[in-house]
Amino acid sequence: MPARKIAVIGAGYVGLTTAATLAAAGHGVTCVDVDRDKVAELRAGRVALLEPDLPELVAAGRRAGLLRFTARLPDALLPPHPPDLVFVCVPTPRGEGGAADVSIVEAVARDLGRLLPPGAAVVLKSTVPVGTADRVRGLLRRPDLPVLSHPEFLSEGSAVHDCRHPDRLVIGAGTTPADRAAARRLADLYTDLAAPVLLTGNASAELIKYAANAFLAVKLSYANTLAELCESVGADIGDVGRGLGLDPRIAPAHLRPSPGWGGPCLPKDTHALLDLARTRQIGFPLVRAALETNDRQHHRIADKVRTAAGGCLDGVRIAVYGLAFKAGTADTRDSPALAVARLLHAQGAELTVYDPAAANPAGPDDWYQTADNPYTAAKAATVVAVLTEWPEFARLDWALISQLMHRPHVVDARRILDPEALEACGLTVSTVGRGT
Ligand code: UGA
Repeated sequence: MPARKIAVIGAGYVGLTTAATLAAAGHGVTCVDVDRDKVAELRAGRVALLEPDLPELVAAGRRAGLLRFTARLPDALLPPHPPDLVFVCVPTPRGEGGAADVSIVEAVARDLGRLLPPGAAVVLKSTVPVGTADRVRGLLRRPDLPVLSHPEFLSEGSAVHDCRHPDRLVIGAGTTPADRAAARRLADLYTDLAAPVLLTGNASAELIKYAANAFLAVKLSYANTLAELCESVGADIGDVGRGLGLDPRIAPAHLRPSPGWGGPCLPKDTHALLDLARTRQIGFPLVRAALETNDRQHHRIADKVRTAAGGCLDGVRIAVYGLAFKAGTADTRDSPALAVARLLHAQGAELTVYDPAAANPAGPDDWYQTADNPYTAAKAATVVAVLTEWPEFARLDWALISQLMHRPHVVDARRILDPEALEACGLTVSTVGRGT
């Protein structure tokens, strides 16, 4: 595999992980971000994202002289660093009507058209609506520049591992010889990896990304509804999920019940797929139902907390354990924990939140208080609601928490606690997906 010169635009989860992984593979990478403070931090060797192995990988790339950071796009594109490949890894937030807002991708495309020397290929790694590669071609105004669609499938909390051990590599290209050659050049980056490389057209590659995330959303909502059914019929979702997951056509992942699925990707991409279908006059009731089920799941968990509190939340102190959308990340974007907390607050509960990593997005004087440890959060609470599956929650001193609480009741919406051990500490435990 020849070493390439690569520019990565955007130093978020996808951009930074991609840049550091490519540098670790021996390529010369310049990563550019408009956020000057972020670039200054990265240059000083600090990685703000909570992501295992990423700080070490970034440091190693910098030490080897293979990973540079800049806030100026020309520095990443012009001599002495003209790239062979330009990875576009900028955000595409949820826009009007659920469609992804591609304005940042479009602005980058215009800049690339002006600045990029001949011989490079544009690689779209951002999650973009079907048709974006063609739109980017138009905005570039440079028929000489191939545009490839190369979606990313990494998960937060295992981003480096996922980048190094991908399940599959999807590369979409146009039909011109230049596009085809660029697709092969991109595929050559991955010859050392065991993952299958799927070469497709641009539209298929773009759709695969949305289809994958929406499928996961459907699977998760299916599991959450099964969990409700388990509670009703005396079954256990742990056993049912294992029994399902052993079928290779179903697979074990994403069958754990929860207060709902969230994060920066699944909700946004599910809405975007629905919007795409709507623009083509195609109903997609299955995907719509996954979203509605997710909303219902937030309510179902809030109802469990209210029941545990004795039927009324007004003025009742609730300790919320976990704010991040899943364990292993500080990210609270579209977090189910926040959604449930909002429902509790709307019913008058007084919330104290503890999360080992997530910052307080509401601001300290807003609608909930934060505690810097789980024991302070539990003081005088009527219910502890476990909403994120941080493993440390299972290792807490629950006997102490039981003593600190006003009325010792725990709602474990992630099934990470041992109910018998907690009950031995004097706590009443309600969980999800287990019938009595
Ligand atoms: C998701 C996809 O899993 C990645 O494949 C994709 O690349 C990524 O979006 C993206 O588009 O960038 P991520 O957002 O990191 O990754 O989150 P997941 O691990 O999929 O979790 C999503 C939500 O589902 C979380 O709230 C999590 O707690 C919940 N979940 C997950 C469950 O409720 N049960 C499970 O069994 C698994």
